[in-house]
Amino acid sequence: MLGEILRRLIATYLILSASSQLNSTKPESPEEDPFSITLKEEGKLKDLLLKKGILFGGAVQSSYLKNDPLYRKIVSEEFSMITPEYEWKMSQIVPEKGRYSFATADEILAFAEEHNLKIRGHTLIWGGDLPKWFEEGKWSYEEAKNLMEEYITTVMGRYRGKVPYWDVVNEAFDLPFRWDKNPWYKALGEEYVPLAFHIARKTDPQAKLFYNEFLAEGMNSRSDRLYEKIKKWLSEGVPIDGIGFECHFQFGIPHREELFQNLRRFSDLGLTIHLTEVELPIPFSVTRGRRIKQAIVYRRLIDACLNTPRCEAIVTWGVLDRYSWTQKRGWFSEPLLWDEEGKRKLPYYVFYDAVFRSQTFSENTPYP
Ligand code: G3I
Repeated sequence: MLGEILRRLIATYLILSASSQLNSTKPESPEEDPFSITLKEEGKLKDLLLKKGILFGGAVQSSYLKNDPLYRKIVSEEFSMITPEYEWKMSQIVPEKGRYSFATADEILAFAEEHNLKIRGHTLIWGGDLPKWFEEGKWSYEEAKNLMEEYITTVMGRYRGKVPYWDVVNEAFDLPFRWDKNPWYKALGEEYVPLAFHIARKTDPQAKLFYNEFLAEGMNSRSDRLYEKIKKWLSEGVPIDGIGFECHFQFGIPHREELFQNLRRFSDLGLTIHLTEVELPIPFSVTRGRRIKQAIVYRRLIDACLNTPRCEAIVTWGVLDRYSWTQKRGWFSEPLLWDEEGKRKLPYYVFYDAVFRSQTFSENTPYP
């Protein structure tokens, strides 16, 4: 209970401190709008990014793909990659012990194949969104190891050769007091991470295997800890091919130089870099100043990827603002690149301008 209260307090603090950064914007002045971008668009953003070796897309849910034509149109026409936001998690794949249910997961893969989209398998081993039978069970080392082997070989085996990227382990370095919630850690200790990667490599040798983490985008104690761990595991032959930096910037906006520096140090380990859950929701009330600050941070992100060797994917955490997991909670709004009506927003044009002009941008350079 105390852990939960502490976790909520820290999450609230992180959100408030990030939102205060969003508040540090220029005073509102209608005439001073540096974003009157009139782009002569030369093709789609996804194609411009692809020319630079960067896949572009968003997290999707099967119900929206099925029921919302506008959502479907944007995903099929504007993206080159998708990530299942929810349906490929353990709670959905194996709701009861030993009973696997792939219907919805298959639908999302079928949509990706129909529209020639790459797909990120999200996620195999996580301490979150677990089926009750597993989360509440008491597992010995051997039982947990066998369960992990069964789960990874069943899920990855089903999609062998069709899923080029997997988040093999998600958020192992959770906020400190969450360890008690992670059955994998409780039964296997920290070595559950290497174990998952070795099983995954054996199951689908063609797939690129990622470790996915939040709040590790800048230079901070979490990213330092992650860097040391990843370096150690790589030196021990753990088959980690890439790092996913989630970029939920409502929890913390990294300084530009620190973002560049951090991505570069992981890239220098020979790892592929994916920006996997990109969003910067505007907290509380939306103002033009906050929209401008949001655009500046999005520009920081795309410039960081363009300037980091092996940065090969940018995936926003959702498609349309209205379905965003943060907007649905009411604290935030307008996190993504397309608005309620599917119109492109300022962040979209900031991305486009960065790639189209592919200029290296410092924050005091006036916007085009
Ligand atoms: O689809 C059902 C709906 O039928 C039902 O009526 C409703 C009632 O609660 O639940 C709906 O499912 C929800 C699902 O999102 C789809 O919206 C689940 O309750 C809810 O727990 C689930 O939350 C997802 C969360 O991960 C847990 O899986 C969020 O959408 C998703 O954005 C969030 O994503 C995570 C990444 O996987 C890892 N990184 C952090 C990120 C944000 O927490």
